[in-house]
Amino acid sequence: MSTLTQSPAWQALEAHRKAMAGAGIAQLFSADPQRCGNFSLQLGELLLDYSKNLVTAETIKLLVALARARGVGDQMHRMFNGEKINSSENRAALHTALRGEQAVPVDGADVMPQIRATLKRMRQFSDGVRAGGITSHGGRKFTDVINIGIGGSHLGPALATHALAPYASPALRVHFVSNVDGAALHRTLASLDAATTLVIVASKTFTTQETLLNARSVRDWLDQSLGNGAGIGNHLAAITANTQLALDFGIAEARVFPFWDWVGGRYSLWSAVGLPVALAVGMDNFEQLLSGARTMDDHFRNAPFEKSMPVILALLGVWYNDFFGAASHAILPYDESLALLPAYLQQLDMESSGKRVTRDGEPVDYDTGAVIWGAPGTDAQHSFLQLLHQGTRLIPADFIAACQPHHALGQHHEVLMANFFAQTAALMNGAPAAGAAHDAFPGNRPTNSILVEKLTPRALGLLLALYEHKVFVQNTIWGINAFDQPGVELGKRLAARILPELAGGDPVTAYDASTNGLIDFYKTHR
Ligand code: F6P
Repeated sequence: MSTLTQSPAWQALEAHRKAMAGAGIAQLFSADPQRCGNFSLQLGELLLDYSKNLVTAETIKLLVALARARGVGDQMHRMFNGEKINSSENRAALHTALRGEQAVPVDGADVMPQIRATLKRMRQFSDGVRAGGITSHGGRKFTDVINIGIGGSHLGPALATHALAPYASPALRVHFVSNVDGAALHRTLASLDAATTLVIVASKTFTTQETLLNARSVRDWLDQSLGNGAGIGNHLAAITANTQLALDFGIAEARVFPFWDWVGGRYSLWSAVGLPVALAVGMDNFEQLLSGARTMDDHFRNAPFEKSMPVILALLGVWYNDFFGAASHAILPYDESLALLPAYLQQLDMESSGKRVTRDGEPVDYDTGAVIWGAPGTDAQHSFLQLLHQGTRLIPADFIAACQPHHALGQHHEVLMANFFAQTAALMNGAPAAGAAHDAFPGNRPTNSILVEKLTPRALGLLLALYEHKVFVQNTIWGINAFDQPGVELGKRLAARILPELAGGDPVTAYDASTNGLIDFYKTHR
């Protein structure tokens, strides 16, 4: 047994879980008329109601004791203070500094001056492009931006640009291409005029195969459309932690926006990786996004664990994951603007938490990351929510919505919100069979409800930082490294090995029989 599962805090939770067998959330409400107030937290415009969970005050007490026993407070301070908590890569994890205000030293040097300098350059560039001071080769105002990047260099800016569309200028459309599937790039380029298109290549390493291939293809497109080489530099920018490779690619130094090895890809939205967001909605709004995240950082640093939103969300995650065997967690934004949130959180959570050895290299004997998935409501109600209501599995879910919409379309928002409230109530309360057994709803399905007043840039910052810190707390409890991703390397290496084998028609024998057979079928039928 690991030190975690042997620990008194863990054992106490095991015993408590057994003692809670048969407990019903609805009954917990009957027993405590103040439950909603007692099990909800507010931070400015953000409300977290976690009362519809299978927890009592005793559960929270025991979970908080676990967080303390696992050194969550110490590890949090180490993160904020720039210590190299990403042990396998010997790096700090300082995404909080990107939206912070205080000096933080890494290797003896304060990181804030370079952060501020980059923010200033982002402002000059985004203001210039938006106002028309920075123009295309032919002196025309840019109408379109393509962000080429993948994973952390794509998901955050794509989510934020989509979510903040009500704040965007209609005069500058921002497109995202991530997949190496040429269909994605082809479709985007087909609708654009190279003469007024700005291309951003976003890659922390500037070595990612998909991004570089897409970037080369776009560079060729610019070349051909603008006339061999003429001024394509005006149409290119890069965001990277590897400036030299961006320069080698042909991007002018003045157009390279840096970030640093102490920013993990999936935590990089707050860095220059947010440049497409600034182009879309303006730098003031991007800074509002940062300010929302900073407010959540301050809350995380200062609130006692019992009152800390990220800690509570994380503890509930551990509770269901490790004590109820819940293998997945659903993210259900009742807001089309947050349609990309499940995909963003998939990378944030699953790339961080998909680990099976501790930071010390010991195999774990408990479950770590859950499968994160989801889709916006009410669409989700007409596809997979059936399984949450009546299936055999326990799937905790986060319902997320804004009280005020960004549109004035009659009754739509009231109908949307009525469904939000109805779903969480139905999942908790269930209903007896009106007739046949298949009509019965067992209820007792846990949910968190997260409401913001309005989905402003600030509110989005609060929300995303909430999930970042949730993931951090969970991984600290599990003793795993939230900031590396060695698991993605094997497939990359193998793809590089297979690629040359796709040339020519000879049968392939180097792999297992299934892989050989698939490659041969592809070669015969392509
Ligand atoms: O393959 C996973 C990954 O390394 C992610 O962690 C990262 O966000 C993504 O690839 C893109 O990497 P880069 O920004 O270096 O192109």
